[in-house]
Amino acid sequence: MNRVKTKLFPQWLIHLAALTPLLWLAGVFLIDGWGINPIQYLEKRSGDYALVLLLASLACTPLRFITNSARFTQFRKPLGLYAFAYAALHLLLFVGLDYGFTWDEIIPLVLNKTYLWFGLAAFVLLLLLAVTSTQGWQRRLKKNWQRLHTLVYLTGGLVVLHFALSIKGNIFKLSGEVFWPLISMIVLSILLLIRLKPIRSALRRLHR
Ligand code: HEM
Repeated sequence: MNRVKTKLFPQWLIHLAALTPLLWLAGVFLIDGWGINPIQYLEKRSGDYALVLLLASLACTPLRFITNSARFTQFRKPLGLYAFAYAALHLLLFVGLDYGFTWDEIIPLVLNKTYLWFGLAAFVLLLLLAVTSTQGWQRRLKKNWQRLHTLVYLTGGLVVLHFALSIKGNIFKLSGEVFWPLISMIVLSILLLIRLKPIRSALRRLHR
């Protein structure tokens, strides 16, 4: 196969990029504070970072098809694990800081809000994917490991729905704060489309 050599970031730059949002949050706090509702601010930002890192992780395989370089594959796992870490922080801020671990308030709230069902389902899947991301689990699950890890696309879909339904506005009527949820839906759809067999074959032909 004709491999295109791409000069890419070293691994440490990926770690730096994934940790920069924390430095950014610290900087915002020192300069301006986190606004009148700092808990909500942190909840929103941690959710945003988790989504961006998840989409970045999902972009690695399509980028491999587009550039014909396998080098992007090495970033998929660290980006996915960072997405999980920010999602865990997001959840911790919600249950710990926002609701002080008062489960008799949290459980009815989660049951009553559709967007939280999607968030919870996405988190459970992210946890499953993070736990089974090791080489040990890869060996143990053999072919099923690949199948299990395609669930990352379902996870992306659930997170995007969680985002779209959490905003002030109506995504179905395109009214209110729909811009970013819509952008994330479009990005996820493009990433999924590139994985489709006819598109992959067309890209392969283009590289020959
Ligand atoms: C049990 C799991 C989860 C809970 C309880 C939860 C809770 C919340 C809450 C309460 C909000 C609304 C914040 C506000 O507007 O005040 C929110 C928004 C959001 N969450 Fe989650 N979430 C969960 C899982 C996830 C996961 C797994 C991700 C991403 C990987 C995620 C990404 C987001 C995003 C992107 C937003 C919108 C932030 C914005 O408005 O800019 N959430 N979540």
